[in-house]
Amino acid sequence: MAAQDYSPAAYDPFSPAVMANPVPFYEELRAKPEVHFIAKYDTWAFSRFQDIVDVLTIGDNAFIASESTLPSEEMLLDRHTGTAQELPLDPLPGFALLGSPHYEALRQAHIKPLQPKAVKSLAGFVEGLANELLDDLLPRKRFDLTQDYGGIISASVICKLFGIELTRAREVLDMVNAMSRTDEASGGIDVPMMMARYAAIIGECVTRRRAAGADGDNMLIDGLIHLDHFSRALSDEEVAAQLVCVFVGGTETAPKIAAHGLMELANTPDQLAEVRADLAKNVPRAVEEMIRFCAPAQWFSRTAHRDVEVAGARIRKGQRIIVLFGSAKWDEAEFDAPREFRWNRPIRRVLSFGTGQHYCFGIHLARLELKIIVETFLRRVGSYSFDMGSAIRYPSSFQWGWNSLPVVIGD
Ligand code: HEM
Repeated sequence: MAAQDYSPAAYDPFSPAVMANPVPFYEELRAKPEVHFIAKYDTWAFSRFQDIVDVLTIGDNAFIASESTLPSEEMLLDRHTGTAQELPLDPLPGFALLGSPHYEALRQAHIKPLQPKAVKSLAGFVEGLANELLDDLLPRKRFDLTQDYGGIISASVICKLFGIELTRAREVLDMVNAMSRTDEASGGIDVPMMMARYAAIIGECVTRRRAAGADGDNMLIDGLIHLDHFSRALSDEEVAAQLVCVFVGGTETAPKIAAHGLMELANTPDQLAEVRADLAKNVPRAVEEMIRFCAPAQWFSRTAHRDVEVAGARIRKGQRIIVLFGSAKWDEAEFDAPREFRWNRPIRRVLSFGTGQHYCFGIHLARLELKIIVETFLRRVGSYSFDMGSAIRYPSSFQWGWNSLPVVIGD
């Protein structure tokens, strides 16, 4: 069998080899002095930490994710014509596809329940959930740490935020998991199908809020219902389209990071012992390294809406860029020995939550959930190990993380 070619020329985000393990490809991309241009897709691939910061912090609508933040291979193959499409505002697409000032107006309209004070008020709820779940799971001695523990916690928080019965948390989790799995044949996500499924469940929540008067009790939804920015009210479908990012981002990422992080600690008993020495003090620090080391999102895309020169790349209007967050975390120029998990490493900055305009606004909730998921588990569990033979990390062009991590509880 021929040896795998990891050179930049062989990098294709949708190729089976990259989707199975992009890390060696990223190493070669970062070693290349210039930003890599993928001719097949007419797209620039940014792999270095600082280059990504530089390109994502250019304002003035130079880059807008107007085609999608997560385009399929088919979308990238559809070559640009030197123009960048401005999306019509009626009906309104999801806010992530829009530039300023519409992007910010929509984002601000539903950000309140995810701001620090509101998130802090969820701590008791999340702790209660974590303990209740462990009461049920620990006697089984073996369960899926990603799905049965962290996954149900994150999905339950999303249910609470959206006003969905908590008994539907497993359904929400399964839906997000199913929709986020990249199709191994096409390498992409079936975006229209995904949006229709989400629109149905989120749409029900919006319709209920409007019928109940949308009095401001649930600002995630009511803030969008009452938004006064487009000289007209948004329809239920338009409100639902804005909420997909919170629904998905809030469900799928934290559980993979928590389970993977607990695995890294189990694999390095000295580090686990150090963290255990003072859980309340040390877990928040260990969580920061988990966020750096274990974040599963590989890359996001934007389209250039004007000619831009950055990091030596001459990007023409209409071309796309992809920013490889999955590569930035292994950048030796940013982190000392980046491939080593060190629970208390100094971390100046990370790209796990993105940067610039699209910076994740679930960050406070993500940190709260991660801290409680990890700390409660370590408080309640003595020794634990993983059945790696049954663990699953699906090949993916998007979320390359531990979808299933069976944990075995010791004495
Ligand atoms: C540890 C967990 C999480 C990680 C690592 C993470 C990561 C990210 C990243 C990398 C982005 C930027 C995407 C881009 O540049 O296009 C992002 C955006 C976003 N995230 Fe998170 N996220 C997490 C948790 C959450 C949670 C808990 C929520 C909500 C409850 C959430 C909601 C969002 C939203 C609404 C956006 C903005 C999308 C956009 O403007 O395009 N995320 N997240």
